[in-house]
Amino acid sequence: MCGIVGYVGCRNATPVLLNGLRKLEYRGYDSAGIAVLSKSSDEIVVKKSKGALKFLVEKITKEVVRTSESMSDADADRRFSELVGKTGDFIDGCVGIGHTRWATHGEPSDLNAHPHTNVSGSIAVVHNGIVENYGKLKSWLQSNGIVFKSQTDTEVIAHLLNYFYERTNNIFNAVLETLHRLEGSYAIGVICRDFPDRLIAARKESPLVVGVGNGENFIASDVPAVLEHTREVHFLEQNEIAVLYSDHVDLFNSEGEKIVRGTTHIDWNMDAAEKGGYAHFMLKEIHEQPSALENTIRAHMLFGDDGKPSGLTFSKEIEPERFRELVSGARRIVITACGTAYHAGVVGKYAFEKFARVPTVVDVASEFRYRNPILGEGDVFIVISQSGETADTLAALRLAKSKGAKVIAITNSVGSSVSRESDFVIYTLAGPEIAVASTKAYTTQLACLYMLSMMFGRERGIIGDGEYARLLGEFAAVPEKVQQILDEKAAVQKFASSQFNKSKIFYIGRQFDSASSLESALKLKEVSYMHCEAFAAGELKHGPIALVDPDTLVIAIATEPPLFEKLASNIEEVKSRRAVTMCITQDDSGAFEKCCDEIIKIPATESAFESILSVVPAQLFAYYCSVLRGNDPDKPRNLAKSVTVE
Ligand code: G6P
Repeated sequence: MCGIVGYVGCRNATPVLLNGLRKLEYRGYDSAGIAVLSKSSDEIVVKKSKGALKFLVEKITKEVVRTSESMSDADADRRFSELVGKTGDFIDGCVGIGHTRWATHGEPSDLNAHPHTNVSGSIAVVHNGIVENYGKLKSWLQSNGIVFKSQTDTEVIAHLLNYFYERTNNIFNAVLETLHRLEGSYAIGVICRDFPDRLIAARKESPLVVGVGNGENFIASDVPAVLEHTREVHFLEQNEIAVLYSDHVDLFNSEGEKIVRGTTHIDWNMDAAEKGGYAHFMLKEIHEQPSALENTIRAHMLFGDDGKPSGLTFSKEIEPERFRELVSGARRIVITACGTAYHAGVVGKYAFEKFARVPTVVDVASEFRYRNPILGEGDVFIVISQSGETADTLAALRLAKSKGAKVIAITNSVGSSVSRESDFVIYTLAGPEIAVASTKAYTTQLACLYMLSMMFGRERGIIGDGEYARLLGEFAAVPEKVQQILDEKAAVQKFASSQFNKSKIFYIGRQFDSASSLESALKLKEVSYMHCEAFAAGELKHGPIALVDPDTLVIAIATEPPLFEKLASNIEEVKSRRAVTMCITQDDSGAFEKCCDEIIKIPATESAFESILSVVPAQLFAYYCSVLRGNDPDKPRNLAKSVTVE
C-alpha cells in the first residue's frame, strides 16, 4: 500500500533512496519517485516515473536496464544495481524522500506519482495512506487560488504545508498544523528547501519506521528498507512525529511535545531480506518454510531429558496463570483476519473445534467490523496478521476490545500496531516475507493456531496425556516433512508445465481440506491470474459442477482418511465430465488412483496437521504456473502486500 523512504546524512541520498525503494516495491509498484535537496542548486529536484522502479532509474540515468532481449533476469538485476549506483552523478544532495505507489486516488501516471510539492517546489512530501477529507481540503485550497497538478489526495498535504509555512515560517509547526487537519491514515515524509538539514516524518494508522544510523538517519514504511544501514529503529507510534537530522532524531507527540524513547534492535540480518540465489522471493520463502516452522514451533515447545517434546508454553507471551484464566473463561473463540491470514483462521476453526472443543467462528475483518458483532467477556478474540498493520484487521481488533473480548494476536511483525494493541501477542518467527503472495507467514500462522488449540484442549482436559505426547511428537516432525515435499518439487513443476494454460481450476476438499483449498486457490489466483475457485467438495453438485468441462483442472486435497471415499466419489463426478484431476494426499492405499490423472504424495502425519503440508505443493504449483505464464510472482498485478487502507 505504497512504500516511503527518506534519508538525511552525508552520503549521496539518491542511490540510498532508490535501494530502499527496491526493498519496498512489494508495497506497490505502479509508479515511483524521489525528491532530493540538491547541493549544487539548493533546490528540491523531483524525479518520478510511471511503472516499476527501473523506469525511474532509467529516467534519471538516461540508460536502459535491459540492454538486450536475451538478457537474463540475474544480469538485468545486476545492471539495475549498477545504474542505481550511478544515479548520484545526476542528482547530488544528502537529504531526500522517495515513494513507490499503489494507486488509490488517481490512475498510475508520472503526474500522480509522489513526491508532491507546493506550487513553488520548496516543500516536497511522500505519503502512504488515504486523506479521507481531501475533497473538502482541496476545494478550500482551490478557493484560495491553488491549482492542483495531480488527482491525488496527497497533493493537498503539500499545499496545506505551504499554507501554514507561509504563516509560521517554521516547517515543524507547518507539519503540526497540517496533521491536525487531516482525517484518515497517513505516514508521511517531508523535506523543505529552507531547512536543508532535516527530514520530518509522521504517522497515523499507516506504519513508519525510523532507522537510526551513525551520522545518518532514515525513514521507511518497513524494516527491510533500512536493514542494510542499521538495525536500530524507532517504530513510530500513532500520531507521533519524528524530526531527523544527520546526527540525531527527535520524537514528538501530536501536540509537538518531545518524547524520549530508546530504539528497538532488529534481529533479522540482511540475508533474510535478499533473494539468496533463488529466482524469486516467493520461491525462496516457500523453501524457508521448514526453518520458519522449526523456529516457530521450537519457540513454544518444551522438551524432556530424552529430547522428546514434553509440552507447549506461551509463557513469554501469556503467563501460565493468565493463560489458565483465558482458557477457563473461554465461551467461544472468534477469529478475524484478511486474505491469507483469514484462510489460516479457517483452518484454526477446525483445529480449535477438534482439539479444544470450543465453539469457534471465523470471519473476514472487513465484514466483521461493520456487522455490529455480538461479542462479550467470555469471547477470546484472535486476530491474525502477517504485517500487523492491515486496516480492517486493526479496526476489528479495536472493536473486539471495546466490547470486552480478550485479544490474542498472531503476527509476524514485532512493534506493529496489531502487536501493540492486543492483550497477548504470539509471534510467528517467519522472518521477513517480501513476496506479495504469503507462504511462510501462512504456514507459521497455522503452526501457532495448532499449538494454541492443543494448549486449550490440554487445559480443558480434552486431550489426555498419551494423546498429547503423540500429537506433540507428530507436530515436532512437521518441518522436516515440509522439507521432504520441497525435495520432490520437480513433480509439481512438471505437472504445472502441462496445466498452466487451463482456463478453469478448482480446488476441492472436505473439512480441514476445504479450508486448505481456499488458500491454495488464492495462491494460484494471486500469482498466475488463472481463474481458480475453491469449493467444499460436497457442494460441487449444488452448482459448481455445471462449470466443469474438458478445459477444467480439479485439484482435490485429500488428507482426511474417514472421508476419502466420499471425496473419491466427488472426483469421479468431475472426471466423468472430462475434467483433468489431480490429488494432493498422504494416502498410499490407492484410494485415489482410479479417479485421478496425477497424484502428488505428501508425507503422513496426524491428519489435522496435514494442512501445513498439503498447501506446499499448491504454493509451488501457483509459483510455477506464474513463471510459465510469464508473470512476476513477487509482484502480482494490482496487489500489495500490506493493505493499510480499507
Ligand atoms: C494482502 C496481502 C495478503 C495478506 C493480506 C492480509 O492482501 O496481499 O497476502 O494475506 O493482505 O495481510 P496481513 O498482513 O494482515 O496478514
